[in-house]
Amino acid sequence: MIKKINTKFAKLIKYYSLINHNLIYENEAINRYKINNNLAIKGPKGKELQQLKQTISKIKNCELKNISTNIVFSDGNPNSKIMVIGEGPGANEDLEGVPFIGKTGELLDKMLLSIGLDRDNIYITNVVNYRPPENRSPTKEEIDRYLPYLTRHIEIIDPKILILLGSSALNALIGEEKKISEIRGKWINKKIGKCSTSVIVSFHPAFLMRQPDQKAMSWIDLKMIRKKISDLKIKIEK
Ligand code: URA
Repeated sequence: MIKKINTKFAKLIKYYSLINHNLIYENEAINRYKINNNLAIKGPKGKELQQLKQTISKIKNCELKNISTNIVFSDGNPNSKIMVIGEGPGANEDLEGVPFIGKTGELLDKMLLSIGLDRDNIYITNVVNYRPPENRSPTKEEIDRYLPYLTRHIEIIDPKILILLGSSALNALIGEEKKISEIRGKWINKKIGKCSTSVIVSFHPAFLMRQPDQKAMSWIDLKMIRKKISDLKIKIEK
């Protein structure tokens, strides 16, 4: 009996180390107080970012804006060469005005941490900057309405690596004809506005929470990002 339990346990450990247990759970708590929303607006790109935020906040005829509490513009380091794009704010993000701070954000932080990244060395935004009600995905019309702002956002940050999480980001910036499962795990050279960048599409952390068996695929994508950072000699601030 004990032998049987030990074998099972050994197999479990092997499995977790194969798919990187950091993606499943971490013993160490993540320091949420490290999130520094002001960082997104200060620094050499601060003025352009501030202007863009103001322009978005004046958006007209947008149901999302009318029912939201706060604009959710960005988080992280605007000088980073790595930009992450999610879908749209959820309830917590709407209340705090910061992207990816709920459970989904916790998983995103763990995913990033597993390849040595955090919010001091990447920059995060979403396809839409106001919360879609009931956590639905933004509609095509909403995605199209926010696309010029997202394009401008990408131009200002000018990332060398652009990480698109989930189908809204995929639809907005690559097109609607592909599914994540078909397009993930590949680098796509893309010009977005004036920015030429290497794009990778991967699973959204909210999807990974619903389908944890896909974390193994997500880990492959994360390792590709780690390799690209090294190939492009991108300096990561520690
Ligand atoms: N999901 C997203 O795509 N963005 C957030 O900011 C939070 C959850």
